[in-house]
Amino acid sequence: MPQRSEWSCSCRKANSCSSLSRMLMRPIILLSLVLLSQVLRTECRPAITDEAMAPQWAHPEKMEKKLHAVPASKTVKFRCQASGNPNPTLKWYKNGREFKRDHRIGGFKVRDHVWTIIMESVVPSDKGNYTCVVENQYGSINHTYQLDVLEHCPHRPFLQAGLPANRTAVVGSDVEFECKVFGDPQPHIQWLKHIEVNGSRVGSDGLPYVRVLKTSGLNTTDKEMEILQLRNVSFDDAGEYTCLAGNSIGISHHSAWLTVVEDKGHLVLISPVSTCTKVKARLLPPAALAEPELSDLSRSNQFKANA
Ligand SMILES: *[C@@H]1O[C@H](CO)[C@@H](O)[C@H](O)[C@H]1NC(C)=O
Ligand SMILES: *[C@@H]1O[C@H](CO)[C@@H](O)[C@H](O)[C@H]1NC(C)=O
Ligand SMILES: *[C@@H]1O[C@H](CO)[C@@H](O)[C@H](O)[C@H]1NC(C)=O
Ligand SMILES: *[C@@H]1O[C@H](CO)[C@@H](O)[C@H](O)[C@H]1NC(C)=O
Ligand SMILES: *[C@@H]1O[C@H](CO)[C@@H](O)[C@H](O)[C@H]1NC(C)=O
Ligand SMILES: *[C@@H]1O[C@H](CO)[C@@H](O)[C@H](O)[C@H]1NC(C)=O
Repeated sequence: MPQRSEWSCSCRKANSCSSLSRMLMRPIILLSLVLLSQVLRTECRPAITDEAMAPQWAHPEKMEKKLHAVPASKTVKFRCQASGNPNPTLKWYKNGREFKRDHRIGGFKVRDHVWTIIMESVVPSDKGNYTCVVENQYGSINHTYQLDVLEHCPHRPFLQAGLPANRTAVVGSDVEFECKVFGDPQPHIQWLKHIEVNGSRVGSDGLPYVRVLKTSGLNTTDKEMEILQLRNVSFDDAGEYTCLAGNSIGISHHSAWLTVVEDKGHLVLISPVSTCTKVKARLLPPAALAEPELSDLSRSNQFKANA
Protein backbone atom coordinates (compact mmCIF):
# COMPACT_ATOMS: atom_id res chain seq x y z
CA MET A 1 0.00 0.00 0.00
CA PRO A 2 2.42 2.72 -1.16
CA GLN A 3 -0.30 5.41 -1.08
CA ARG A 4 -0.95 4.99 2.58
CA SER A 5 2.69 5.34 3.65
CA GLU A 6 3.16 8.36 1.40
CA TRP A 7 0.10 9.97 2.89
CA SER A 8 1.10 9.50 6.51
CA CYS A 9 4.56 10.75 5.60
CA SER A 10 3.33 14.02 4.13
CA CYS A 11 1.03 14.37 7.10
CA ARG A 12 3.89 14.20 9.53
CA LYS A 13 5.91 16.66 7.49
CA ALA A 14 3.00 19.05 7.28
CA ASN A 15 2.68 19.14 11.02
CA SER A 16 6.16 20.45 11.48
CA CYS A 17 5.90 23.08 8.74
CA SER A 18 4.58 26.63 8.71
CA SER A 19 0.88 27.18 8.12
CA LEU A 20 1.62 28.43 4.60
CA SER A 21 3.27 25.22 3.51
CA ARG A 22 0.56 23.29 5.38
CA MET A 23 -1.97 24.97 3.11
CA LEU A 24 0.10 23.94 0.12
CA MET A 25 0.24 20.39 1.43
CA ARG A 26 -3.52 20.10 1.74
CA PRO A 27 -4.20 19.52 -2.00
CA ILE A 28 -1.52 16.85 -2.00
CA ILE A 29 -3.10 15.07 0.93
CA LEU A 30 -6.50 15.29 -0.71
CA LEU A 31 -5.12 13.94 -3.95
CA SER A 32 -3.49 11.04 -2.13
CA LEU A 33 -6.76 10.27 -0.37
CA VAL A 34 -8.64 10.27 -3.66
CA LEU A 35 -6.05 7.95 -5.17
CA LEU A 36 -6.17 5.67 -2.14
CA SER A 37 -9.96 5.42 -2.16
CA GLN A 38 -9.93 4.76 -5.89
CA VAL A 39 -7.47 1.94 -5.43
CA LEU A 40 -9.62 0.48 -2.65
CA ARG A 41 -12.79 0.80 -4.70
CA THR A 42 -11.27 -0.92 -7.69
CA GLU A 43 -10.00 -3.75 -5.53
CA CYS A 44 -13.31 -4.26 -3.80
CA ARG A 45 -15.70 -3.89 -6.69
CA PRO A 46 -15.70 -7.45 -8.06
CA ALA A 47 -16.46 -8.95 -4.64
CA ILE A 48 -19.28 -6.55 -3.78
CA THR A 49 -21.29 -5.66 -6.82
CA ASP A 50 -20.77 -8.15 -9.57
CA GLU A 51 -22.10 -11.62 -9.21
CA ALA A 52 -25.00 -13.10 -7.31
CA MET A 53 -23.91 -15.00 -4.25
CA ALA A 54 -25.81 -17.28 -1.90
CA PRO A 55 -25.28 -16.36 1.78
CA GLN A 56 -22.19 -17.68 3.46
CA TRP A 57 -20.79 -17.23 6.94
CA ALA A 58 -18.19 -14.53 7.23
CA HIS A 59 -16.46 -16.07 10.25
CA PRO A 60 -17.46 -19.72 10.65
CA GLU A 61 -14.61 -20.20 13.12
CA LYS A 62 -16.30 -17.75 15.50
CA MET A 63 -19.47 -19.82 15.42
CA GLU A 64 -17.93 -23.09 16.47
CA LYS A 65 -18.89 -22.70 20.11
CA LYS A 66 -22.50 -23.76 20.04
CA LEU A 67 -23.34 -24.34 23.68
CA HIS A 68 -23.25 -21.18 25.74
CA ALA A 69 -23.69 -21.71 29.47
CA VAL A 70 -24.21 -18.32 31.04
CA PRO A 71 -24.95 -17.29 34.62
CA ALA A 72 -28.37 -15.80 35.17
CA SER A 73 -28.59 -12.00 34.87
CA LYS A 74 -25.75 -11.79 32.34
CA THR A 75 -26.09 -10.36 28.84
CA VAL A 76 -25.96 -12.85 25.97
CA LYS A 77 -24.97 -12.03 22.40
CA PHE A 78 -25.17 -14.44 19.50
CA ARG A 79 -23.65 -13.49 16.20
CA CYS A 80 -24.22 -14.88 12.71
CA GLN A 81 -22.17 -12.68 10.46
CA ALA A 82 -22.71 -13.49 6.81
CA SER A 83 -22.18 -12.14 3.35
CA GLY A 84 -24.07 -12.61 0.14
CA ASN A 85 -25.36 -10.76 -2.85
CA PRO A 86 -27.91 -9.34 -2.59
CA ASN A 87 -27.28 -8.63 1.05
CA PRO A 88 -29.06 -11.42 2.94
CA THR A 89 -31.72 -10.93 5.59
CA LEU A 90 -31.36 -12.19 9.14
CA LYS A 91 -34.09 -13.79 11.22
CA TRP A 92 -33.95 -15.36 14.68
CA TYR A 93 -35.85 -18.38 15.93
CA LYS A 94 -36.10 -19.75 19.45
CA ASN A 95 -36.71 -23.49 19.69
CA GLY A 96 -37.87 -23.50 16.08
CA ARG A 97 -40.39 -20.66 16.42
CA GLU A 98 -39.81 -17.17 15.15
CA PHE A 99 -38.47 -15.18 18.09
CA LYS A 100 -40.43 -12.01 18.76
CA ARG A 101 -39.64 -9.29 21.23
CA ASP A 102 -42.78 -9.87 23.23
CA HIS A 103 -41.79 -13.49 23.83
CA ARG A 104 -39.31 -12.31 26.39
CA ILE A 105 -39.52 -9.98 29.39
CA GLY A 106 -37.27 -7.10 28.53
CA GLY A 107 -37.36 -8.11 24.88
CA PHE A 108 -34.12 -8.34 22.97
CA LYS A 109 -32.14 -6.26 20.55
CA VAL A 110 -31.06 -7.16 17.06
CA ARG A 111 -28.11 -5.30 15.64
CA ASP A 112 -28.62 -6.10 11.99
CA HIS A 113 -25.45 -4.41 10.78
CA VAL A 114 -23.35 -6.66 13.04
CA TRP A 115 -25.65 -9.69 12.69
CA THR A 116 -26.10 -9.94 16.43
CA ILE A 117 -28.94 -10.64 18.81
CA ILE A 118 -28.57 -9.31 22.35
CA MET A 119 -30.52 -10.51 25.37
CA GLU A 120 -29.96 -8.62 28.56
CA SER A 121 -30.22 -10.09 32.02
CA VAL A 122 -30.95 -13.68 31.03
CA VAL A 123 -33.18 -15.78 33.25
CA PRO A 124 -33.75 -19.56 33.25
CA SER A 125 -36.71 -19.24 30.89
CA ASP A 126 -34.27 -17.98 28.25
CA LYS A 127 -32.74 -21.45 27.98
CA GLY A 128 -33.16 -22.97 24.57
CA ASN A 129 -31.93 -23.16 21.02
CA TYR A 130 -31.50 -19.93 19.12
CA THR A 131 -31.31 -20.26 15.37
CA CYS A 132 -30.33 -17.56 12.99
CA VAL A 133 -31.55 -17.92 9.41
CA VAL A 134 -29.71 -15.88 6.83
CA GLU A 135 -31.11 -15.86 3.35
CA ASN A 136 -31.41 -14.15 0.03
CA GLN A 137 -33.00 -15.37 -3.19
CA TYR A 138 -30.00 -17.60 -3.90
CA GLY A 139 -29.95 -19.54 -0.70
CA SER A 140 -30.54 -19.92 3.00
CA ILE A 141 -28.18 -20.94 5.73
CA ASN A 142 -28.81 -21.30 9.43
CA HIS A 143 -26.92 -21.82 12.62
CA THR A 144 -28.13 -22.82 16.07
CA TYR A 145 -26.70 -21.72 19.38
CA GLN A 146 -27.79 -23.48 22.53
CA LEU A 147 -28.22 -21.28 25.58
CA ASP A 148 -28.07 -22.68 29.06
CA VAL A 149 -28.68 -20.25 31.89
CA LEU A 150 -26.45 -21.66 34.54
CA GLU A 151 -26.90 -21.00 38.17
CA HIS A 152 -30.16 -20.26 39.73
CA CYS A 153 -29.34 -16.86 41.10
CA PRO A 154 -32.35 -15.58 43.00
CA HIS A 155 -32.57 -11.85 43.42
CA ARG A 156 -35.08 -9.22 44.33
CA PRO A 157 -36.84 -7.89 41.21
CA PHE A 158 -35.31 -4.84 39.69
CA LEU A 159 -37.07 -2.31 37.54
CA GLN A 160 -35.64 -0.58 34.53
CA ALA A 161 -34.52 2.91 35.41
CA GLY A 162 -36.75 5.74 34.21
CA LEU A 163 -39.85 3.55 33.95
CA PRO A 164 -42.65 4.19 34.46
CA ALA A 165 -42.11 7.74 33.18
CA ASN A 166 -44.15 10.84 33.97
CA ARG A 167 -46.93 11.43 31.49
CA THR A 168 -49.05 14.36 30.51
CA ALA A 169 -52.35 13.60 28.82
CA VAL A 170 -55.21 15.63 27.45
CA VAL A 171 -58.48 14.91 29.21
CA GLY A 172 -60.41 12.24 27.30
CA SER A 173 -57.29 10.71 25.72
CA ASP A 174 -55.64 7.37 26.44
CA VAL A 175 -52.32 7.03 28.18
CA GLU A 176 -49.93 4.20 29.02
CA PHE A 177 -47.41 3.68 31.74
CA GLU A 178 -44.66 1.15 31.15
CA CYS A 179 -42.73 -0.84 33.71
CA LYS A 180 -39.91 -3.25 32.87
CA VAL A 181 -39.20 -5.83 35.50
CA PHE A 182 -36.39 -8.34 35.79
CA GLY A 183 -36.25 -10.97 38.46
CA ASP A 184 -35.47 -14.53 39.35
CA PRO A 185 -37.82 -16.07 40.43
CA GLN A 186 -40.23 -14.43 38.03
CA PRO A 187 -41.80 -11.48 39.86
CA HIS A 188 -45.44 -10.66 40.21
CA ILE A 189 -46.43 -7.16 39.24
CA GLN A 190 -49.05 -4.81 40.62
CA TRP A 191 -50.08 -1.39 39.45
CA LEU A 192 -51.20 0.99 42.18
CA LYS A 193 -52.82 4.41 42.19
CA HIS A 194 -52.06 6.64 45.12
CA ILE A 195 -55.25 8.01 46.63
CA GLU A 196 -56.39 10.24 49.43
CA VAL A 197 -58.40 8.94 52.35
CA ASN A 198 -60.03 11.57 54.51
CA GLY A 199 -57.95 14.19 52.72
CA SER A 200 -54.68 12.47 53.55
CA ARG A 201 -52.34 10.61 51.22
CA VAL A 202 -50.56 8.80 54.03
CA GLY A 203 -51.98 6.80 56.89
CA SER A 204 -51.07 7.29 60.54
CA ASP A 205 -48.50 4.51 60.11
CA GLY A 206 -46.70 6.51 57.42
CA LEU A 207 -47.70 4.22 54.53
CA PRO A 208 -49.30 5.79 51.47
CA TYR A 209 -52.89 4.94 50.65
CA VAL A 210 -53.21 3.12 47.34
CA ARG A 211 -55.81 1.44 45.18
CA VAL A 212 -54.77 -1.69 43.30
CA LEU A 213 -55.53 -1.22 39.59
CA LYS A 214 -54.03 -4.36 38.09
CA THR A 215 -52.51 -7.53 39.48
CA SER A 216 -50.74 -10.27 37.64
CA GLY A 217 -52.71 -13.46 37.79
CA LEU A 218 -53.12 -16.73 35.97
CA ASN A 219 -54.66 -15.04 32.95
CA THR A 220 -52.18 -12.24 32.51
CA THR A 221 -48.98 -12.57 30.55
CA ASP A 222 -45.87 -10.91 31.87
CA LYS A 223 -45.92 -8.69 28.83
CA GLU A 224 -49.43 -7.46 29.56
CA MET A 225 -48.43 -6.55 33.06
CA GLU A 226 -45.64 -4.30 31.84
CA ILE A 227 -48.21 -1.82 30.56
CA LEU A 228 -50.84 0.07 32.52
CA GLN A 229 -53.34 1.53 30.10
CA LEU A 230 -55.70 4.30 31.13
CA ARG A 231 -58.46 5.10 28.68
CA ASN A 232 -60.41 8.32 28.38
CA VAL A 233 -58.57 9.95 31.26
CA SER A 234 -60.32 12.48 33.45
CA PHE A 235 -58.87 14.97 35.89
CA ASP A 236 -59.53 12.43 38.64
CA ASP A 237 -56.95 10.13 37.01
CA ALA A 238 -54.16 12.64 37.61
CA GLY A 239 -51.77 11.69 40.35
CA GLU A 240 -49.14 9.20 41.28
CA TYR A 241 -48.95 5.65 39.93
CA THR A 242 -46.68 2.90 41.16
CA CYS A 243 -45.42 -0.27 39.54
CA LEU A 244 -44.72 -2.78 42.29
CA ALA A 245 -42.82 -6.00 41.58
CA GLY A 246 -42.28 -8.75 44.08
CA ASN A 247 -40.93 -12.27 44.24
CA SER A 248 -39.92 -14.57 47.07
CA ILE A 249 -36.73 -12.57 47.63
CA GLY A 250 -38.22 -9.12 47.92
CA ILE A 251 -40.03 -6.27 46.27
CA SER A 252 -39.14 -3.17 44.28
CA HIS A 253 -41.18 -0.30 42.98
CA HIS A 254 -41.02 2.78 40.81
CA SER A 255 -43.53 5.61 40.61
CA ALA A 256 -44.55 8.18 38.03
CA TRP A 257 -47.02 11.01 37.79
CA LEU A 258 -49.89 11.55 35.42
CA THR A 259 -50.73 15.16 34.67
CA VAL A 260 -54.08 15.70 32.98
CA VAL A 261 -54.55 18.89 31.00
CA GLU A 262 -57.62 20.24 29.34
CA ASP A 263 -58.14 19.86 25.63
CA LYS A 264 -57.23 23.27 24.21
CA GLY A 265 -59.37 22.57 21.15
CA HIS A 266 -62.48 22.26 23.29
CA LEU A 267 -61.73 25.04 25.71
CA VAL A 268 -65.08 26.68 25.02
CA LEU A 269 -66.96 23.60 26.18
CA ILE A 270 -65.35 23.56 29.59
CA SER A 271 -66.04 26.07 32.29
CA PRO A 272 -62.56 27.57 32.70
CA VAL A 273 -62.89 28.49 36.37
CA SER A 274 -63.90 25.09 37.66
CA THR A 275 -61.35 23.27 35.49
CA CYS A 276 -58.53 25.47 36.68
CA THR A 277 -59.26 24.97 40.33
CA LYS A 278 -59.59 21.27 39.75
CA VAL A 279 -56.22 21.06 38.00
CA LYS A 280 -54.56 23.12 40.67
CA ALA A 281 -55.89 20.92 43.41
CA ARG A 282 -54.60 17.82 41.64
CA LEU A 283 -51.19 19.27 41.05
CA LEU A 284 -50.53 20.29 44.63
CA PRO A 285 -47.35 18.54 45.73
CA PRO A 286 -47.85 15.61 48.04
CA ALA A 287 -47.27 16.87 51.53
CA ALA A 288 -45.60 14.02 53.30
CA LEU A 289 -45.09 11.26 50.79
CA ALA A 290 -41.45 10.38 50.66
CA GLU A 291 -40.07 7.63 48.47
CA PRO A 292 -39.41 4.67 50.78
CA GLU A 293 -35.79 3.76 51.23
CA LEU A 294 -34.57 0.80 49.21
CA SER A 295 -33.46 -0.90 52.40
CA ASP A 296 -37.07 -0.85 53.59
CA LEU A 297 -38.23 -2.94 50.69
CA SER A 298 -38.12 -6.27 52.46
CA ARG A 299 -41.19 -5.17 54.39
CA SER A 300 -44.08 -6.67 52.55
CA ASN A 301 -46.70 -4.05 53.48
CA GLN A 302 -45.30 -1.00 51.76
CA PHE A 303 -48.67 0.30 50.84
CA LYS A 304 -52.07 0.47 52.40
CA ALA A 305 -54.42 -1.08 49.92
CA ASN A 306 -57.83 0.49 49.76
CA ALA A 307 -60.12 -1.57 47.61
C1 LIG B 1 -31.76 -27.86 21.60
O1 LIG B 1 -30.91 -28.63 20.78
C2 LIG B 1 -30.29 -29.70 21.46
C3 LIG B 1 -29.26 -30.32 20.55
O2 LIG B 1 -29.77 -30.48 19.26
C4 LIG B 1 -31.36 -30.66 21.93
O3 LIG B 1 -30.76 -31.74 22.63
C5 LIG B 1 -32.32 -29.93 22.83
O4 LIG B 1 -33.39 -30.78 23.20
C6 LIG B 1 -32.88 -28.70 22.16
N1 LIG B 1 -33.65 -27.94 23.11
C7 LIG B 1 -34.87 -27.46 22.86
C8 LIG B 1 -35.53 -26.71 23.97
O5 LIG B 1 -35.40 -27.60 21.77
C1 LIG C 1 -31.42 -25.14 8.56
O1 LIG C 1 -30.68 -25.77 7.55
C2 LIG C 1 -31.01 -27.14 7.37
C3 LIG C 1 -30.14 -27.72 6.29
O2 LIG C 1 -28.86 -27.21 6.37
C4 LIG C 1 -32.46 -27.28 6.99
O3 LIG C 1 -32.81 -28.64 6.91
C5 LIG C 1 -33.32 -26.61 8.03
O4 LIG C 1 -34.68 -26.63 7.61
C6 LIG C 1 -32.89 -25.18 8.23
N1 LIG C 1 -33.67 -24.60 9.32
C7 LIG C 1 -34.29 -23.44 9.23
C8 LIG C 1 -35.03 -22.99 10.44
O5 LIG C 1 -34.28 -22.76 8.21
C1 LIG D 1 -42.25 13.37 37.74
O1 LIG D 1 -43.22 14.25 38.29
C2 LIG D 1 -43.04 14.50 39.68
C3 LIG D 1 -44.22 15.31 40.16
O2 LIG D 1 -44.56 16.32 39.26
C4 LIG D 1 -41.72 15.20 39.88
O3 LIG D 1 -41.49 15.44 41.26
C5 LIG D 1 -40.59 14.33 39.33
O4 LIG D 1 -39.36 14.98 39.43
C6 LIG D 1 -40.86 13.97 37.88
N1 LIG D 1 -39.88 13.01 37.46
C7 LIG D 1 -39.22 13.15 36.34
C8 LIG D 1 -38.21 12.09 36.01
O5 LIG D 1 -39.40 14.09 35.57
C1 LIG E 1 -62.07 8.87 57.88
O1 LIG E 1 -62.72 9.74 58.78
C2 LIG E 1 -63.87 9.17 59.41
C3 LIG E 1 -64.51 10.22 60.25
O2 LIG E 1 -63.61 11.18 60.70
C4 LIG E 1 -63.44 7.97 60.25
O3 LIG E 1 -64.54 7.37 60.85
C5 LIG E 1 -62.74 6.97 59.34
O4 LIG E 1 -62.25 5.89 60.11
C6 LIG E 1 -61.59 7.63 58.61
N1 LIG E 1 -61.06 6.64 57.69
C7 LIG E 1 -59.76 6.33 57.67
C8 LIG E 1 -59.37 5.30 56.68
O5 LIG E 1 -58.95 6.83 58.41
C1 LIG F 1 -59.18 -16.67 32.75
O1 LIG F 1 -59.27 -17.39 31.55
C2 LIG F 1 -60.23 -18.42 31.57
C3 LIG F 1 -60.16 -19.19 30.26
O2 LIG F 1 -59.37 -18.57 29.33
C4 LIG F 1 -61.62 -17.81 31.78
O3 LIG F 1 -62.58 -18.83 31.84
C5 LIG F 1 -61.61 -17.02 33.09
O4 LIG F 1 -62.87 -16.36 33.24
C6 LIG F 1 -60.52 -15.99 33.08
N1 LIG F 1 -60.45 -15.35 34.38
C7 LIG F 1 -60.35 -14.03 34.54
C8 LIG F 1 -60.28 -13.55 35.93
O5 LIG F 1 -60.34 -13.26 33.58
C1 LIG G 1 -65.07 9.58 28.44
O1 LIG G 1 -65.44 9.93 29.77
C2 LIG G 1 -66.51 10.88 29.84
C3 LIG G 1 -66.75 11.22 31.28
O2 LIG G 1 -65.69 10.91 32.10
C4 LIG G 1 -67.76 10.30 29.19
O3 LIG G 1 -68.79 11.27 29.22
C5 LIG G 1 -67.44 9.90 27.77
O4 LIG G 1 -68.56 9.26 27.20
C6 LIG G 1 -66.25 8.97 27.73
N1 LIG G 1 -65.91 8.71 26.35
C7 LIG G 1 -65.66 7.50 25.89
C8 LIG G 1 -65.30 7.41 24.44
O5 LIG G 1 -65.70 6.52 26.60
